[in-house]
Amino acid sequence: MRTKLSNPNVDMLKYGIREIVDVAQKLGEIDPNFKFIGENIGDPIAKSWPVPDFLKELIIEEVKKPGDKAFGYSHSRGLPSTRHWVVDYSKRFSPSSTLDYEYVLFVSGLGAGIAAMYHMLPKGSRIIQPTPSYPTHASLESFNAGEESISYNLDPNNGWQPDLEHLESQIQKYPEIAGILIINPNNPTGGVYTEETLEKLVQLAEKYDLMLISDEIYFRLVFNGQKYVQLTEIAQGRVPLIVMRGLSKDVPWPGGRCGWLEFHNVDLDPEYKDFAEAVKKRVLMEVCSVSLPQHILPQIYDHPKFEAWIQTYTSELEKNANYIADILSSTPGLKVQRINGAFYMMPLFEDGVLKPTQTLHIENEEARKFIESQVNVEGFPLDKRFAYYLLATTGICVVPASGFFSPYYGFRLTTLDRDDKRRQETYSKVSQAVKDYLSS
Ligand SMILES: Cc1ncc(COP(=O)(O)O)c(C=O)c1O
Repeated sequence: MRTKLSNPNVDMLKYGIREIVDVAQKLGEIDPNFKFIGENIGDPIAKSWPVPDFLKELIIEEVKKPGDKAFGYSHSRGLPSTRHWVVDYSKRFSPSSTLDYEYVLFVSGLGAGIAAMYHMLPKGSRIIQPTPSYPTHASLESFNAGEESISYNLDPNNGWQPDLEHLESQIQKYPEIAGILIINPNNPTGGVYTEETLEKLVQLAEKYDLMLISDEIYFRLVFNGQKYVQLTEIAQGRVPLIVMRGLSKDVPWPGGRCGWLEFHNVDLDPEYKDFAEAVKKRVLMEVCSVSLPQHILPQIYDHPKFEAWIQTYTSELEKNANYIADILSSTPGLKVQRINGAFYMMPLFEDGVLKPTQTLHIENEEARKFIESQVNVEGFPLDKRFAYYLLATTGICVVPASGFFSPYYGFRLTTLDRDDKRRQETYSKVSQAVKDYLSS
């Protein structure tokens, strides 16, 4: 090669949620009895959630329509009629919203929108990340910056609400911070933010002249008597706010690849408006995002059966999550926070209980040697070590908290499994594995 091809920032792209699947695959090749139980990925379809019939019918109707519009390109920022619907939808929750459909951008899955947004940040401007972090945000932000993430802690002793004192001290320490990322309901913790928390986040953004970026992909999945508080309502007219939504999780149609960005309050600040224009240009380069879901999106959310679907979905998620929390919170050595939204939970290990010598008995000799070769490496995170032993001995695949750049050791699981018997078996095994591992 005449010049370099290896990118020095590539190590900043970390996606622990899928990296552990490669380890599972290798275990499957080694041991014919290995049975994979994926508790690592938030895909409702993979966990046997049925796609509601009304969604399938809408897709079929659209596909059969004369003119075959859903097969063509759509406007590069998204179908204008659907973007107008997004504006109207936003006003249902925040009547004073001034969102303009020209600042609603459709993308092929929210992941693509996240990438586009960080890509357009000028060099030297940073977005502070919550930690434990969702790796798509944290990795893409730090890859773009060419520097490690700057982060603020979520507090496991306070329902995983942001630690606002830590956030403020980080903002003061790093003047390059231009915006605060909020993920609410949160992946990976399942926390749902209170109105008080959101008000304080807006006040911090006002005080330090920052924008807020609010990833709300789980906003319809809230339960245990909690109410989702709309940040758009609180932030209206006060601070620059980018809202991110999509239909991967609530509909659920993750393979449809449809998400969108809403730039609220664009007239508050010329720098922010320039940034919005820059992201619009970046989206233009993709030609258009997947057309089919955009054509039917308003009909999905306004369908008379949609609310009943969300009720069924969230009440089952609530039941599953509370069941798992009950089993795991009675496990010595673990600290478990009940969750109020999304479909993730992050049990933590009590301080000091993990040691670099702990193991579980892996029967297959070759599998044992493989796991030992992976974990007995200088600096291997202690919670990742547990996750590898859990995987090799039970087939259960959880993601170590260190895979989310977490300051605390633990693991993230999903609460999606619909099968009561299998869920009971899985989490009884996790509980037993924690006990055996800690006493090994
Ligand atoms: C917080 C959060 N944002 C964005 C995404 C990406 O969503 P999409 O499937 O629309 O790319 C996910 C996916 O798990 C997520 O958890």
